[in-house]
Amino acid sequence: MVSSSFTTTTTAASRTITMIFLLFLFTPTLVTSECELLKYDTNLLEFPLNLEYFEAEYFLYGSIGKGLDSIEPNLAAGGPPPVGAKQANLSHIVKDIITQFAYQEIGHLRAIKKVVDGFARPLLNLSAESFATVMNDAFGKPLSPPFDPYANDINYLISCYVIPYVGLTGYVGANPKLQSPISRKLVAGLLGVESGQDAVIRSVLYERAKEKVVPYDISVAEFTNKISELRNKLGNTSLKDEGLKVPIDIGAEKKIQGNVLAGDKDSLAYGRSPREILRIVYGTGKEHVPGGFYPNGGNGALAKRYLKLGKN
Ligand SMILES: *[C@@H]1O[C@H](CO)[C@@H](O)[C@H](O)[C@H]1NC(C)=O
Ligand SMILES: *[C@@H]1O[C@H](CO)[C@@H](O)[C@H](O)[C@H]1NC(C)=O
Ligand SMILES: *[C@@H]1O[C@H](CO)[C@@H](O)[C@H](O)[C@H]1NC(C)=O
Repeated sequence: MVSSSFTTTTTAASRTITMIFLLFLFTPTLVTSECELLKYDTNLLEFPLNLEYFEAEYFLYGSIGKGLDSIEPNLAAGGPPPVGAKQANLSHIVKDIITQFAYQEIGHLRAIKKVVDGFARPLLNLSAESFATVMNDAFGKPLSPPFDPYANDINYLISCYVIPYVGLTGYVGANPKLQSPISRKLVAGLLGVESGQDAVIRSVLYERAKEKVVPYDISVAEFTNKISELRNKLGNTSLKDEGLKVPIDIGAEKKIQGNVLAGDKDSLAYGRSPREILRIVYGTGKEHVPGGFYPNGGNGALAKRYLKLGKN
């Protein structure tokens, strides 16, 4: 008994010593390698700030008529204020939902900037004309009168269909490229809530899918289909975007045309690269030609690199 307990004690003691030794040996390396992994991920983690700034400003202005400069000025990091953003004419429930999204986006900006330095808010063109241009491009002809995203619930929700989904495909695309568990945790957390926002926007629109968007003789579902078609075209890849009503062979399990959520043949979310995202949000189809919502292009190393390539 005595001897066995003695052995246990010495074993435990030597184990502790070994542990301390191992910790001493590996701790500095672990810390360095975690830093190195994060450094590798930095560009991919910073890039989505471009879209998060868009969403924060668009949701803040649309719901409460004020932007980051009034609510969390530090997060703008001295970037220029957005152009043309204003409060939308929303019902109580839609205003309530969009206000929640707006505050969620503030959290997203803060969460990303806790992990990486990030960059300043890029110049954003959130004017009604900016959205009207997207709709004209989507339909391949000018809508008359021009589409006004701020006019009412349905127009605002359709305008919300335009960008947040692109951000979500960006997180799906980035995740497999990330090295650090810290980055992957951040991106999974962002992806979860962004997908939730997309699902809310899509379900509210889905309920009204057959309604005509006044004064056009065009249904809500048709608007979403055209916007998705435009994004597919601008992104210049295979199918990654689907409206609320799809041909049956694109629906879930090729069994249904209703498409409240977009997904591939196994109903997995589509992923997009930063380059594809820039082609879409610039509205130019070219990652080196800025425009649309980003008159001067995006910020951060990735967007800047593509812009520079365009200047050569
Ligand atoms: C915003 O977009 C509209 C429509 O494309 C354009 O007329 C306007 O000049 C743009 N504003 C800025 C500051 O880029
Ligand atoms: C605001 O939206 C409501 C309901 O959609 C609509 O009846 C009203 O005309 C709109 N007001 C303005 C100023 O556009
Ligand atoms: C990408 O764009 C090129 C040039 O416009 C076109 O030829 C090609 O078919 C496009 N690829 C896809 C997958 O859409």
